[in-house]
Amino acid sequence: MKVLLIGGCGFIGSHVADCLVEHGIAVRIFDRRLEPFRDPLPRVEYVMGDLTDTAQVFEAMSGVDAVIHLASTTVPSTSNLDPVADIKGNLISAVRLLEMMRATDIRKIVYLSSGGTVYGIPTTDPVAEAHPLNPISSYGIVKVAIENYMQMENHLHGLQPIVLRASNPYGPRQGHGGIQGIIGTHLWRTARGEGVEIWGDGSIVRDFIYVRDLADLCVAALTTDTSGCYNAGSGAGASINDIVDRIRAVTADEPGINFDPVYKPGRSFDVPRVVLDISKARRDFRWAPKVDLKEGIERTWEWVKQTSRAD
Ligand SMILES: NC(=O)c1ccc[n+]([C@@H]2O[C@H](COP(=O)([O-])OP(=O)(O)OC[C@H]3O[C@@H](n4cnc5c(N)ncnc54)[C@H](O)[C@@H]3O)[C@@H](O)[C@H]2O)c1
Repeated sequence: MKVLLIGGCGFIGSHVADCLVEHGIAVRIFDRRLEPFRDPLPRVEYVMGDLTDTAQVFEAMSGVDAVIHLASTTVPSTSNLDPVADIKGNLISAVRLLEMMRATDIRKIVYLSSGGTVYGIPTTDPVAEAHPLNPISSYGIVKVAIENYMQMENHLHGLQPIVLRASNPYGPRQGHGGIQGIIGTHLWRTARGEGVEIWGDGSIVRDFIYVRDLADLCVAALTTDTSGCYNAGSGAGASINDIVDRIRAVTADEPGINFDPVYKPGRSFDVPRVVLDISKARRDFRWAPKVDLKEGIERTWEWVKQTSRAD
């Protein structure tokens, strides 16, 4: 099997690439840049291009059996600043990709949607896949629209899409721009001796998944003969204050490190609690998250320390 891994040089994509290689699956990465934190992988083919360029994508699809789509030009907190750019960069390119898959008879796609945004403000706890979709950000609205186009292609043309609604992934190789990924951002800022800010009182609860567990799920989904939407989280909730306590514990013995977050007013788009029900993915893919928050934060801290020293 050969897979086109779109966005394979990103945070999640880099781990999916590792996992595919370990499974002996041939990988062609399509991305507009190389990985920022490590050299290209020896057994992986790299095609540099832009998903909005139909000709480049079409060429990159030659000879592949399946697609994993992990490219996104937006994150929840910035998508509302320019919804038109969000639609152009993400929705239109995804719809074109589906058309090209139909034309080239590639049937299988794994797509990373967002369990933190497609449900809006959840009315159940945990949130199962059947929960109504009421996104309150452009990012979530575009994710739902892409999911719907995939369903349409499934009904009309027999596409086999697997949508994974990811919760909050964290782990090595997460960028540290500070706009997404509280664990990575806080660890990076702490390693550099920079202050850490918390929006709100730290009581909001999220479902954090170690990135390698999410990558394993992507590959399990790819190699299973099914289609549909699946929550992709740890199934457990942790508050921001829980994360703060764990980061304090993991950094406590580091000389010169002072982890002392400053609390700022909450943000209107942060929903109070989102924890995903992952029983469907556990059942259909015989998959389960393996790395708990304590171990995951320790591994991430080790990576951040090494990488920030080399910077
Ligand atoms: N990280 C999260 O917290 C999170 C949570 C839920 C869902 N997701 C989804 O998972 C997917 C991967 O996220 P990530 O955190 O790895 O993001 P990332 O930004 O680290 O990686 C995305 C990759 O896609 C590439 N890319 C973006 N636009 C492109 C384009 N037009 N053409 C070619 N390449 C392009 C980027 O260069 C980057 O390497 C995205 O769809 C994202 O929406 C992420």
